[in-house]
Amino acid sequence: MRVGIDKIGLFTPNKYVDMVDLAHARNEDPNKYLIGIGQSEMSVADQTQDAVSMGINATMKYIDRIDKDKIGLLVFGTESGIDQSKSASLFVKTALKLKPEVRTFEVKEACFGLTAALMIARDFVRVHPDQTAMVIGSDIARYGIGTAGEVTQGAGSVSMLIKADPAILALNDGHSAYSEDINDFWRPNDSKLAMVDGKYSTQVYLDFFSKTFADYKKQKKLETNDFDAIIYHLPFTKMGLKANRLAVADQDEATTEKLQNSFDASKQLSRRVGNIYTASLYMSLLSLLENGNLPTGALVGLFSYGSGAMGEFYSGNLVEGYKKEVNAAGDEKMLKRRQKVSVPEYEEIFNTALDDPEDNEELTSDDEKGTWYFAGTKGNIRQ
Ligand code: CAA
Repeated sequence: MRVGIDKIGLFTPNKYVDMVDLAHARNEDPNKYLIGIGQSEMSVADQTQDAVSMGINATMKYIDRIDKDKIGLLVFGTESGIDQSKSASLFVKTALKLKPEVRTFEVKEACFGLTAALMIARDFVRVHPDQTAMVIGSDIARYGIGTAGEVTQGAGSVSMLIKADPAILALNDGHSAYSEDINDFWRPNDSKLAMVDGKYSTQVYLDFFSKTFADYKKQKKLETNDFDAIIYHLPFTKMGLKANRLAVADQDEATTEKLQNSFDASKQLSRRVGNIYTASLYMSLLSLLENGNLPTGALVGLFSYGSGAMGEFYSGNLVEGYKKEVNAAGDEKMLKRRQKVSVPEYEEIFNTALDDPEDNEELTSDDEKGTWYFAGTKGNIRQ
């Protein structure tokens, strides 16, 4: 039985900073950000957009095209949690009016969270082929104003429906996982900003990629050339480029060109949205589906990385008609609707969002009508 991704939706908030403006404000050469890091824009979340609201908005992209009553599982991966106890998924479930019988919870392992959710969902659907599973990754990457990581911030969510006989990507059995308890990136409970050993984190990422990619090929008796595309968790697009260079290091020109072209297609959204942690790999997938030209059956390798650290490589095959399931024009419209904010405006939004609103303070959204948003708390209960 084929099980995999049947629907996919992306949401990003309605403001962005241009990387050239940010470079000027930080006294850096713009090419360091545009080429050296590989980012051109970065989405900015104000106080009204958080992991929950973005997760709902991402799911709204396809909710009208699915049978909600078939959903038996809803898993939410995030490292921007809004409660230490209650799962973000329960708020989503209420907003989307899912049935009470759904099993729902939140998972965490840094940016690996949505892959963890996806694998749980894949196995759930294998056991319950008449049901579907919804998985959501939703995050705001915050390193701090003036830090080295600032240029690798972003905000957004990807939501996916997993089912038997999927319309987009059929997931292959098996995977290669690798984990180690290390301190490359983490966020203690009392901090809204991530702590990071940036250079070390990039080394570990590449090391875990090399290990899991080699192991996966060995397990499955595959050669690099068998892949039509390899896509990556993209904390910034240069990170994926470095991993892709490792992937093609010993390959002929044709394979190198094929995997470079598919990587280029997969990085387009990330370049403009920034790091969305758990959902970044799946934004790469969406970007590949929208901007690439792969045939039915094409083998796509996926590398997921979560700091702390956990890496996993797995694969899937594109399903006939997959292009009909994505809406490149709609996603472009969403990016275009974003208002460009100046660096001082972004700094003010950033600093305001570091504080939670006072209880009973009502927030209002300046996004377009129909967009879900966080309206504050009443009696410490989220609205
Ligand atoms: N023109 C072109 N390129 C330029 C340039 C110019 N004028 N000036 C500098 N560059 C290049 C540099 O040569 C360098 O390229 P290479 O990496 O190919 O050597 C690149 O720009 C970056 O320059 P620096 O290394 O000097 O950058 P930095 O010290 O300011 O920090 C960073 C970069 C470590 C990635 C930092 O942004 C950071 O800490 N980011 C957050 C951590 C992160 O994203 N880690 C990724 C792995 S962990 C993970 O994936 C989980 C997650 O989501 C966080």
